[in-house]
Amino acid sequence: MKVLIVGNGAREHAIAEKLAQDCELSSVMSKKNPAIAQLSKDYWICDTEDAEAVGKAIAGREFDLGFASPDASLAAGVSDVLARSGMLVASPTKAAARIEWDKSFMRSLLERHKISGSPLHEVVNAAEDARRVIRDFGAVAVKPLGLTGGKGVKVSGDHFHEIDEKVAYAQSLIEKDGSVLIEEKLVGEEFTFQCFSDGSRIAVMPPVQDHKRAYEGDLGPNTGGMGSYSSGKRLPFMEEADREEAQKILQSVVHAMKKDGNPFRGVLYGQFIITANGVKIIEFNARFGDPEAMNVISLLQDSLTDVFLSIAEGQLSRPAFSDDCTVVKYMVPEGYPGKPLKDAAVSIDAAGVEGSGAKVYYASVYEQGGKILTTGSRAFGVLGRAASLDAAERIAEKGCSFIKGPVWHRSDIGTSALIGKKLERMHSIRG
Ligand SMILES: Nc1ncnc2c1ncn2[C@@H]1O[C@H](COP(=O)(O)OP(=O)(O)O)[C@@H](O)[C@H]1O
Ligand SMILES: [Mg+2]
Repeated sequence: MKVLIVGNGAREHAIAEKLAQDCELSSVMSKKNPAIAQLSKDYWICDTEDAEAVGKAIAGREFDLGFASPDASLAAGVSDVLARSGMLVASPTKAAARIEWDKSFMRSLLERHKISGSPLHEVVNAAEDARRVIRDFGAVAVKPLGLTGGKGVKVSGDHFHEIDEKVAYAQSLIEKDGSVLIEEKLVGEEFTFQCFSDGSRIAVMPPVQDHKRAYEGDLGPNTGGMGSYSSGKRLPFMEEADREEAQKILQSVVHAMKKDGNPFRGVLYGQFIITANGVKIIEFNARFGDPEAMNVISLLQDSLTDVFLSIAEGQLSRPAFSDDCTVVKYMVPEGYPGKPLKDAAVSIDAAGVEGSGAKVYYASVYEQGGKILTTGSRAFGVLGRAASLDAAERIAEKGCSFIKGPVWHRSDIGTSALIGKKLERMHSIRG
């Protein structure tokens, strides 16, 4: 089977590696990811956020199945272009991916279909309305409606304190986008729950917890994600009822979209938060998370090619996942995220990594003159997998030690010290 993947991060490296086990893989990338290039029979470099450019790049070639992975590619309609060129497609159409690229569409979908889990929220397009809503809600999250690479949302207490600061930020978004989403601030532990969907049914993956903050102890600015862990069917702070509630919300969304004549085929990512009042939904993504893809794909015991085919054909197969634990740590350039060092050489001791049992996924790096260089974004995802979280964490940590150069990572992710704090916090929130 000839499969085409669009995208070039560590997430796509993990997807590509799994697909390439049992298909003939080709890829379209915006920058050459050396690892994905090596896994690909053919690859093309073009702007993957430009659907027509992707269409042109592969013109005249035939594939059985396609998968567009990054959020911006989905929002640009790359899945639609792949479908038009005659292949089966396992990623959502632009219309279905709207659940991610338009947060106002998402909230109104839940409202219209009476799906639980939304906080108080309102979309406003004038500063005086923003002020009224912010005053009414108290602690808030001020959210751009569209894609911002995870860097657009600001939350009371974390990013601002005074009402004028919140209104000013809302106003700046109104000026830029025409409107802004204001939500009541939710307090609790967040988790990622992803599923495959064929437009009707879902098959869930193990839940994962990501770490958005740059520095140890969950401090500092937000990032694309510094690392993540999973521990089988439930995260340490989750109860079975939380998992069931989140699964119900995912299934309800898929039903709702089908009813609306806008079926969702692909990977649906629910970003949930467990609060004192139960499980709430922060947002949906129309794709795998990055880093979460590395956690779950390493646990997938069946063929990803088969799962994608079953999605595209509307006959979802139910893949099995191992209950092992995983820890992913992202190695990022010095100065990341504020002033990241670009074009700096890094080296990987491949034999050392191999011996440690860790796996290294290439993210935003490029090759030049036989060297691997940083771009300023996250450079490598390092995965440890084992029967216990502690052991998986140690493997990931060991793996990181074989990457040399001006890069760093959060060594607290996946440790029992940090997870213990989250457990305590969850315990006190539940009361
Ligand atoms: N209503 C909310 N209450 C508390 N925190 C929120 C809320 N909405 C978003 N956040 C925080 O902001 C982060 C980013 O928001 P999200 O809706 O996921 O947007 P994006 O990932 O597109 O930037 C979330 O992971 C969460 O930590
Ligand atoms: Mg998010």
